[in-house]
Amino acid sequence: MEKLAIEGGTPAVQTARTRPSRFGESEREALLRVLGSENLFRYLREDESQVRALERRFAEIIGAPHCLAVSSGTAALICGLIGLGIGPGDEVILPAYTYISSAAAILNVRAVPVIAEVDASLTLDPADVERKVTPYTRAIMPVHMRGTPSRMEELLDIARRHDLRVIEDTAQACGGSYRGRRLGSLGDVGCFSLQHYKIITTGEGGALVTPHQEVFGRAMMYHDAGRPYWEGYEGEVIPGVNYRMSELAGAIGRAQVEHLDAILARTRGAKRRVLEQIRDLPGVEFQDVPDPEGDCGIVLILFLPDPHEARRFAAAVRAEGCPVGTMYSGEFPDRHIYCYWDHILARKGYSEKDNPWTHPAYHGSVSYSRDMCPRTLDYLGRAVAMTIPDHVSEAEADERAAALRKVASVYYGG
Ligand SMILES: Cc1ncc(COP(=O)(O)O)c(C=O)c1O
Repeated sequence: MEKLAIEGGTPAVQTARTRPSRFGESEREALLRVLGSENLFRYLREDESQVRALERRFAEIIGAPHCLAVSSGTAALICGLIGLGIGPGDEVILPAYTYISSAAAILNVRAVPVIAEVDASLTLDPADVERKVTPYTRAIMPVHMRGTPSRMEELLDIARRHDLRVIEDTAQACGGSYRGRRLGSLGDVGCFSLQHYKIITTGEGGALVTPHQEVFGRAMMYHDAGRPYWEGYEGEVIPGVNYRMSELAGAIGRAQVEHLDAILARTRGAKRRVLEQIRDLPGVEFQDVPDPEGDCGIVLILFLPDPHEARRFAAAVRAEGCPVGTMYSGEFPDRHIYCYWDHILARKGYSEKDNPWTHPAYHGSVSYSRDMCPRTLDYLGRAVAMTIPDHVSEAEADERAAALRKVASVYYGG
């Protein structure tokens, strides 16, 4: 049996990692062109607007009739909720594993977040969603975490039966799909982040898509405080904020969006290649990915029998040169896990008088505790994740698979 690198053996991964730039000539040219146009404001010359061009192309790619580009993924979620008319008195069900922004967006419209378990997919568990529906529930927010499609068929069915809206948080899964339809296009609103760490990026930025003209109109109005007073507007007026995207971000986004499918083809290819070589790995279970075809392929997640084994396994695989990590080891307060959403668990609002939980319109009685979603904590505590950037070569994918096989066979036999 080979000696593990953690015990002084030769690491399984020998290929030097290459990190090509995420930005090419198309981004550089687009940026220079927009600077040369002397216009960084999307509404100055709408026919030339790069933000508008990004919206059109994004809507086409995602397969949605309307798209609005905004300043962040959180802004997209807030505009989406406002678009749907969600506010004080309403509950929105979201998963216990998502970035804190998803919950913050719900609180920003003064609605109440209801935290539900994730299952072995690490996305919303439909059975727990069903249990958490109350007379005050207005929407479900599935979050396609780490590129993994949520169980949309079951969630859409629950929404239909209880007359709930569905707002998909697609911040981490841009371009992914579920049964042939792009994520973000299955619910009433789909929200995307274009922040630096996402699949495609404008540095900071976001977008929402929706099939509903009215939702789009309200979101559009909310994202620009002066919008209703511009020429030609005749609909209902609501007060807005300014979450507009600048032409600089629009130009980069317009270039980046053309790379989306090629990026996903590479991440999916690398993930498939690793998975094919580790399907029979002893001692581990695999994340249960709903519709693996639509998975973005940006992460590969394994579950070990317990948190101690997860830490031991991850440390040994890392020593082999393969970048993996545990997902909930108590080492740092990861705000992607509900138990670290301190101010939410404490039901802290914006001020004494401005608090979604004590708002006179709210008649529900949601309560929170750090251990309220034990299954979520169990799955995350046993999970080991390998992120898969789009530049992983076939040779590196093979070495990563070899690293996983080596550690599993030494620790668990087979
Ligand atoms: C699941 C999820 N939702 C929402 C957001 C918010 O996006 P942004 O940082 O662009 O506001 C993020 C990004 O960090 C995220 O990961």
